[in-house]
Amino acid sequence: MDHDSQPTIHRFAGLHRFTGAVNDLQPEGAYRTLAAAQQLESQGRSIIHLEIGEPDFATPAIIAQHGIESIQRGKTHYTPAAGIPQLRQRIAEQNAARLGIELNANNVVVGPGAKPLLFLPTLALISAGDEVIYPDPGFPSYGAMIRVAGGTPIPYPIDLRQNLASPIDSIQQRITPRSRLIVINSPSNPTGLILEPKQLEAIASIAIEHDLWVISDEIYRNLTYPPCQHHSILSLPGMKERTILVDGFSKSHAMTGWRLGYGIMPSALAEKVGLLMVHSVGCTAEFTQHAGLAALECCDEQSLAMRDIYQSRRDLIVQRLNQIDGVDCETPSGAFYVFPNVSSLGRSSQLIADALLHEAGVAVLPGTAFGAAGEGYLRLCYANSDENLHEAMDRMATWFGQQTR
Ligand SMILES: Cc1ncc(COP(=O)(O)O)c(C=O)c1O
Repeated sequence: MDHDSQPTIHRFAGLHRFTGAVNDLQPEGAYRTLAAAQQLESQGRSIIHLEIGEPDFATPAIIAQHGIESIQRGKTHYTPAAGIPQLRQRIAEQNAARLGIELNANNVVVGPGAKPLLFLPTLALISAGDEVIYPDPGFPSYGAMIRVAGGTPIPYPIDLRQNLASPIDSIQQRITPRSRLIVINSPSNPTGLILEPKQLEAIASIAIEHDLWVISDEIYRNLTYPPCQHHSILSLPGMKERTILVDGFSKSHAMTGWRLGYGIMPSALAEKVGLLMVHSVGCTAEFTQHAGLAALECCDEQSLAMRDIYQSRRDLIVQRLNQIDGVDCETPSGAFYVFPNVSSLGRSSQLIADALLHEAGVAVLPGTAFGAAGEGYLRLCYANSDENLHEAMDRMATWFGQQTR
C-alpha cells in the first residue's frame, strides 16, 4: 500500500502529530502558483512566468569561475560556522565604509542565503508570547519564522492607497509592553517601495524609545533605482546596538542557488547566531563563500549593469500596466516587483490571479499571498525578458478588456 494513503496516515496518526506552528506552515504562494503553472505547461499551454522572485540572469562568469576554481583547489570542507574570516572581514569593512559606522568581523555572520539570517536571530531573541511587528503586505517567511520561534506575529498593514504608503503610524499603533522586535524591508518584496530617511528615523526612535530590536531586510539594496537612493536604519545613531541588517548575494549578483547571505549585528548576538548555525546547518559551503569574496572584490559593475536592465524593465511594465483599463500601477523605487491595484474589477486578488493563469496564460501572485493588506493587488516579478514582458502585457490587456467590456 502507498505510504501516504489514508489508512497508513491513520495508523501513524500519533507519529504525525506536528507542533502547532509547523502544522500552520504554508508554502510560499509563489511556489504554489509555479506548480499550477507547470501543470498547465505539461498539458501544452504556454505560460509566462511572472510569479517567482528570482533574477533571470546567469551568475556573472567571473564569480562562477571563482567558485569552480575553489572546488578544484579543495575548498570543499567545513568552515567556521559564522563564515570564513576573510569574507566576514571584507563584509564588515565594506559595510562600515558604506554606513559610516564601526564594524568588525565579529559583527558578521555568514549563512546559506539571507533566510537563515532572518530566522536564527529571531530564534535567538524571541520567547513565547513576545510580539514581533512585521509588514503586511510582506515577505511570507517573516510570519512563518515568528510563529516557529514561538512569538506572536503582529502584522502592520501598509495602506498602499496613500501615495507615500508610510508604515509609521501603523507600527506605532501596534507597540505594546510585549513588543520585542520590528521587521522592516526596504526595498520591499512585494511592493518595491523603499523607506525614506525620515521614515527610518521615525522607526529608529520608536525602537529606541521602547527598547526594541529591528531586523532590517535589505536583500534588495542593490536594486534601488536612481535617482532614489538606499538608506539603512543601521547607520542611524543608537541603532547599532539593536539592529540586525540582513543582506546577501542572491538578488544583487544573481546567486540564488549558491546560497549565500549575511547578517550584521551586535557581536553578542552574532555569537549566539553562530551557535545556532553550528547546530542547524553547520556552515555555508566553503567554495560558495570564496565565490562571494570574488563577488565583493570585482563585481560591482556587473551588479549595476543588471540593476540598469531591471530599471528599464520596470519602466516598460509600469507603462504597459497603466495602459490597461482596470489596472493602476505606481512606479516602485526598488526590487524587481510591481504591485498593481486591480480592485476596480470587484473580485478578489486570488480569483483574478487564478483567472490570469488559466485563461490568459500569465502566472502572477495575488497580493494576499503577502498578507491581508494585499487584497485588491497583484504582484508581478519583472525579472524577465522584454519580449516575455510585452507578451504578458498583451495577454493581460486582452483578458482585462474581456472583463470590463
Ligand atoms: C524580502 C526577502 N528577504 C529574503 C529573501 C531570501 O533571500 P535568500 O534567497 O538569499 O535566502 C528573499 C527572497 O526572495 C526576499 O524576497
